[in-house]
Amino acid sequence: MGKIRKAIIPAAGLGTRFLPATKTVPKEMLTIVDAPIIFYVVEEAIKAGIEDIILIAGRGKHAIEDFFDTSYELEDRLAKDGKLHLLEKLSRIRNMANIISIRQKQALGLGHAILTGLPIVGDDPFAVLLGDEITTETPTSGNVTNLLCRSFEDTNVSSISIMKVDDKDVSKYGIAETTEIRPGFFKVTDLTEKPKPTETKSRWALPGRYVFDNHIMEILKSAKPSLNGEIQLTDSMRVLCRDKGLNAMTFESRRFDAGDKLGYLQANIELALDNPELGDELKSYILGLSARLQGGKR
Ligand code: G1P
Repeated sequence: MGKIRKAIIPAAGLGTRFLPATKTVPKEMLTIVDAPIIFYVVEEAIKAGIEDIILIAGRGKHAIEDFFDTSYELEDRLAKDGKLHLLEKLSRIRNMANIISIRQKQALGLGHAILTGLPIVGDDPFAVLLGDEITTETPTSGNVTNLLCRSFEDTNVSSISIMKVDDKDVSKYGIAETTEIRPGFFKVTDLTEKPKPTETKSRWALPGRYVFDNHIMEILKSAKPSLNGEIQLTDSMRVLCRDKGLNAMTFESRRFDAGDKLGYLQANIELALDNPELGDELKSYILGLSARLQGGKR
């Protein structure tokens, strides 16, 4: 059974939710604490054992490729100034993975973005990590991609992560209908992209982490546009689910939609709280702020 060595990270979106910041800076390069969003996503893939990262890039995404490349002038200056800890940080990023970038020449939807990775994925199974979602690790199960990769390697069945959402959030996500096999592990029976809360009883949403049998590429080749005129990944997952089965797993990690303004701020606060250099001071600030807010002083 195949080990998962490749991951597709779609990063070709226009980032309209973050304009004007994203007019010149790709959404995936916005900073969380001291690193761009994409750094956390690539790090998750690497920690799950992925070796090749296939970046589906759009116009103006050079900054992402440059981020994972050598920066000669900067590294030379850091070496001369003896700033070895910073130099070490940069070389770690450069050596993280093979980043292979391929252009999605038209913005035809997430399904089309994944199919764009076919020349590099070839016949292999692969992971997909949406480039603007951040998930944390837990000491017991590692990160979400790790859970999915190990599940695929055990079962040879495509695996996706799911999370419970409130009624008001159902129409923001792909929603999975499921049958529970054991606690936290489900068979998917159907999927719908962004249904109204009245159109499905399920509240299991897809947070943007998947591991696919290569058969999904065959399905995507003949996929037709649907919701918003886009080729939706969820439609092809529906076919995959019928053809080959699809497992779904819950997870304990925290997850942030860093492509959304509130999610982005929450990710910054929570990851800064986890940061040894910032955590204590930020915590005292937050407690002080909270006291002021409760006292109505803001
Ligand atoms: C995409 C997927 C959707 C998934 C979501 C996760 O939607 O199409 O199924 O639940 O990501 O964030 P988007 O947010 O790109 O509209």
